[in-house]
Amino acid sequence: MTDDLRAVAWTGTALRLIDQTVLPARLEYLDVEDVDGLVAAITTLTVRGAPALGAAGAYGVAIALLQGVREGWDEATATAAIARVREARPTAVNLAGGVDRVLPHVSGGVEAVLAEADRVVAEDLAANRAIGAYGADWILARVERRPLRVLTHCNTGALATAGWGTALGIVRELHARGVLDRVYVDETRPLLQGSRLTAWELAHEGIEHYVQADGAAAGTILRGLADVAVIGADRVAANGDVANKIGSVGVALACADAGIPFVVAAPTTTLDPGTARGDDIHIEERAEEEILTVAGLRVAPAASRAHNPAFDVTPARLVSALVTEAGVTTPAGH
Ligand code: MRU
Repeated sequence: MTDDLRAVAWTGTALRLIDQTVLPARLEYLDVEDVDGLVAAITTLTVRGAPALGAAGAYGVAIALLQGVREGWDEATATAAIARVREARPTAVNLAGGVDRVLPHVSGGVEAVLAEADRVVAEDLAANRAIGAYGADWILARVERRPLRVLTHCNTGALATAGWGTALGIVRELHARGVLDRVYVDETRPLLQGSRLTAWELAHEGIEHYVQADGAAAGTILRGLADVAVIGADRVAANGDVANKIGSVGVALACADAGIPFVVAAPTTTLDPGTARGDDIHIEERAEEEILTVAGLRVAPAASRAHNPAFDVTPARLVSALVTEAGVTTPAGH
């Protein structure tokens, strides 16, 4: 079923997004036709996940061009609108990358931009299939236990990409090869991409999975209940440091201590050679309410403030394998 799932699709006149804020309760779509709507969809995480943001950025340029024609924008207004899309979230390099990829086609008109955006999507789909195969091969060559127990964090599946998924694509590939026992799914506070989105995808695939509190992950790993952890990335710096959803570095530290592989899966569009090291990555800080309230209910004293970084950085020394569509590298020399 998730084979057909498209988080981002062009209808001919609008960008159709799966509204990821209402899953798993409802599968609803949102058609976006203007830049305000797209920026709001990105900042509210209606569309999210680095590769899906790349596609949204690419189609976002077409949305800006079409709105500019409708509303008679001058070039400066169009440029500012495109910049708003590009900067709507700072950490995933794919968003700016998607915008930048289509910009050279603006002179060819909206059809040329749309054609390039379609290529961004097609290439991501193909990359994810390759990542799934490379990642499964690497894990099966290094981990003896069968069937495998995999731990993952956040959502890296069809919902986060053009389709299939990166880390979750590896999980799906392991399942397809008949070697997967179960998946431990970190719920991924505060916005619950693990329990709401990853578990929803796995349930549709009929893959056995257990949602656990983020705080359970280290214990699960140190107790020997997981054989490998597989996560995605929002940006990989030139030195191999990996920015990903908050909580990822704790999983990596536990894996290092337990001596199990910590595998990062990402398309090459997530590699950022222009950023030297993890410390240089802009980590998005989100609203305090995301931490201080749960389903609209205040869960901390009125006087409490919140610290809400949306991502953290895992040093390259803790990354056992980086899986891209080009193959597997082993930053930590594993
Ligand atoms: O805040 P989000 O939901 O956009 O964060 C998503 C992640 O951190 C993913 O792990 C990452 O983008 C890779 S998605 C293939």
